[in-house]
Amino acid sequence: MKMWSGRFGQSQNPGFEQWQRSFPFDRVLLPFEVAASQAHAAALAKAGVLSSEELSRTVLALEQIAREPIPGADDPAIEDVHHYVELRLVELAGEAGYKLHSGRSRNEQIATDLRLYVRQQIDEVCRLLVELAGEFVNRAYAAGENVMPAYTHLQRAEPVLVAHWLLAYVEMFTRDLGRLADCRQRLNECPLGSGAVAGTILPLDREGIARQLDFEAPTANSLDATSDRDFAIEFVQALSFVALHLSRWAEELILFSTIEFGFVKLPEEFSTGSSAMPQKKNPDALELIRGKAGTVWGNVTALVMSVKGLPLAYNKDLQETQQPVFAAAAEVSNMLRVATGFMATVEFDYKRMERAATRGFMNAMAAAAHLVRQGVPFRRAHELVGKAVRSCLEKSCELEQLSPEDFMLCGIKADQPFYDALTLENVLAIHDVEGGTAPTRVRAALRTAKEKLSMYSGAAHACA
Ligand code: ARG
Repeated sequence: MKMWSGRFGQSQNPGFEQWQRSFPFDRVLLPFEVAASQAHAAALAKAGVLSSEELSRTVLALEQIAREPIPGADDPAIEDVHHYVELRLVELAGEAGYKLHSGRSRNEQIATDLRLYVRQQIDEVCRLLVELAGEFVNRAYAAGENVMPAYTHLQRAEPVLVAHWLLAYVEMFTRDLGRLADCRQRLNECPLGSGAVAGTILPLDREGIARQLDFEAPTANSLDATSDRDFAIEFVQALSFVALHLSRWAEELILFSTIEFGFVKLPEEFSTGSSAMPQKKNPDALELIRGKAGTVWGNVTALVMSVKGLPLAYNKDLQETQQPVFAAAAEVSNMLRVATGFMATVEFDYKRMERAATRGFMNAMAAAAHLVRQGVPFRRAHELVGKAVRSCLEKSCELEQLSPEDFMLCGIKADQPFYDALTLENVLAIHDVEGGTAPTRVRAALRTAKEKLSMYSGAAHACA
């Protein structure tokens, strides 16, 4: 039986009928549809619409529906998940099943189901993100005081601790966790009781319904509640930031795994061979993460375009806001799982990293800083050290290999303290500022990062 055939004299065009169905994808909402229906049933009983016997029959049948595999999953007569639950409920609980739709509308149901789905996915993505960030923290601890070059413009710039580089990503992931937590808090209001558009027609206890579903409160406006999809857009946007950050990490590791860099050895578990070139080990996992980040941002665009310009309140266009949410949630969860496995197994070649971090005038800035401490204005110091670099380029050597006479020709008085300032240890030590790469600062940053992450781990409502 259709949910709305009474006023129609003709049957639906079969092509249109199939094309507009959402059951092929909205069936993932079944557990949430059932939970919301149970809360509604309880409210109906309180309002005297269901007898206590009908209530328990309804609740038991709904429990069974949640447990059983979906029978007739491909049944073309089922329009959507709401229709499915109603049909199955009538099969299991008899005529009482038709009472469940009293005082509610699919418009509030889908708004509620989707919020419950997003809330659950936020908790899952947060858990996976904490796991990944935890792996970065582990690797940062393990990296100790090993160094690598930091780049600007992808040109060697200054040496940093490997741990400092890893913690940069932990910062990004921590912001991502914050965005998800923020979205969770805002979406946590219950649309049930909003009816089709103007509010339910029955005296339902909306506070009680909200409490039963772990919502903070009922939504405040029925027009808004039935047509709002901000929460879905915010969620997918927050996921897109996760994907964006993963894509930068993936790109760095792709570069660092080339023979040219040689900083990391790709784990075979997460690499692929070439069907043509026998010697190849390709970073497909990383490339897919980089590529899929674009797909996830595409989901944000799809969602925004579906909602843009929609008049209040519910319009069927809103059915289009489901699939991009499901796709992004599944994709980002998988990306996180792969990234975590990758980080747990990737090997760093600290020797190559250190070699790169001590070649290419990575101490030029430290040399200038030393001169500044001697009272030379920075602009002049910059010029003098620049001259020294030019002389190194002619001689094919590093700054610390120039003699005091060579430095003198560039206008620099190179005494022992000056040469001391050029050692790797001292170059790192000058960045002794909060957020800088001096080893004591990085150790402190590691502790802080761990604390911040622990705020998001553990509890079921990790992000709340
Ligand atoms: N499948 C629909 C959706 O996802 C459910 C709501 C239908 N409401 C309606 N008034 N046709 O949006």
